[in-house]
Order: sequence, then structure tokens, then C-alpha cells
Amino acid sequence: MGYNVAIDGPAGAGKSTIAKLVAKEKGYIYVDTGAMYRALAIHFLKKGIAPENTEDIIEACRDADVSIRYENGAQQVYLNGENVTGMLRTEEVGNMASKTSAIPDVREKLLELQRALAKENDVIMDGRDIGTNILPNADVKIYLTASVETRAQRRYDELKEKGEDCDLEQIAQDIKERDERDMNRETAPLKKADDAILVDSSHMTIPQVVSEICSHCR
Ligand code: DC
Repeated sequence: MGYNVAIDGPAGAGKSTIAKLVAKEKGYIYVDTGAMYRALAIHFLKKGIAPENTEDIIEACRDADVSIRYENGAQQVYLNGENVTGMLRTEEVGNMASKTSAIPDVREKLLELQRALAKENDVIMDGRDIGTNILPNADVKIYLTASVETRAQRRYDELKEKGEDCDLEQIAQDIKERDERDMNRETAPLKKADDAILVDSSHMTIPQVVSEICSHCR
């Protein structure tokens, strides 16, 4: 069994930035489970299926193969043999992932892949249900959050830096809607595990958050 750190929290809380840095400092593998849901979302978008069309989404899961490889320490996500890593982080893909991740068959499809990675490696795994559902016996559980305003501003800065056209109000609205969906779905909703350590990063710098989390890890 690997040493497992679970890091859950809402969209834009900084989970991936922080988890990558903790992984580097501690020598763990960083596993981004949102990227797996995003890869499936690309599959559904390519097929032109609406997220509300649950039956077709479930059917489409059958011919989707999501796999993870590590190249120079960075996670690469493959969808049916194609490296889709560069296509994952758009708002369209994120919204599709948020909607379709509520479907139990979609979650089931990725569960074994996530558990297998944690079994074989020392990992810091980020997502929504890692501490509550995927790795209930994780060695350390972190619930990382921040205010909606802070998260919207961070997402805005990230998209601007990539040269994407975006609107701060719209991003804040999207974040609220995504929180609502992620926290209120029936299957594996986002919530803090009872034994998770709460870290609110609204007024913390990145090094402060990394150091706080590292202090709880082996
Ligand atoms: O972390 P992210 O923004 O890349 O995740 C995209 C969506 O995928 C998110 O809105 C909810 C879903 N997701 C999930 O349901 N469970 C996870 N473990 C990770 C992501």
C-alpha cells in the first residue's frame, strides 16, 4: 500500500497548484482526478451528447478508455490512446465534467483507476470525494477551500494568463453553480470528511498552504 494523502475541495480552491508542490517536496506522485472526469467530458463533447442525456452518457462510457501516464513527473491523460492533457482545462470541459460526474456510472468507471494508483504509489490525490469515498483510509486528509470571490479571481487570472477571453462575474457565477452541483449530487458529493483537516486558503499565500499541508505529512 502506498502512502496516501487525499486533498478535496471546491473548484478553484488551488488544489492542483498546492498538490503539485507538496508532491515535489515530499516525493509523492500527484494524481489529478478532476483531469480524468474532464477526459471523459471531452469524449462526451466529441460525440455531441448533452449532459442531461444520461442514457447516452452511460452508453458512451463503454467505448471510453481513460489512462494515466507520468512523463517527466507530470501527469498525462490519455483518452482512447490520444494525449488530451492540453485540452482539459477549458470552462466548457469543466462544466461538462461537473454535470456528468454526478452520474454514478461515470464515477464507477474511474474508481478502480484511482484506487489502483493509490495502492501502487505514494500519492497526493486531489478531487471531490477522495477522503470520503475513494481512499477512506488515506494517511492524511485535507479539505482545501477558499471564498467564492477568491476562487473566481484565481480562475480569472489563470485564464487571462492563457490568453482566454473571460469575465469575472461569469466565472463567479459558474463557480457557484459548480459548487451547488458538486456538493448536492446524490453520489459521492463534495463534503469534508470528518477526519479531514480544514485549510481555508482565502488569506494564505501558496508557500503558507504548502507548508501547512506538509507539516501533516510523512
Ligand atoms: O477539479 P476539476 O475542476 O478539474 O474537476 C472537474 C469536475 O469533475 C468537478 O466540477 C467535479 C468533478 N470531479 C468529481 O466529481 N470528483 C473528483 N474526484 C474530481 C472531479
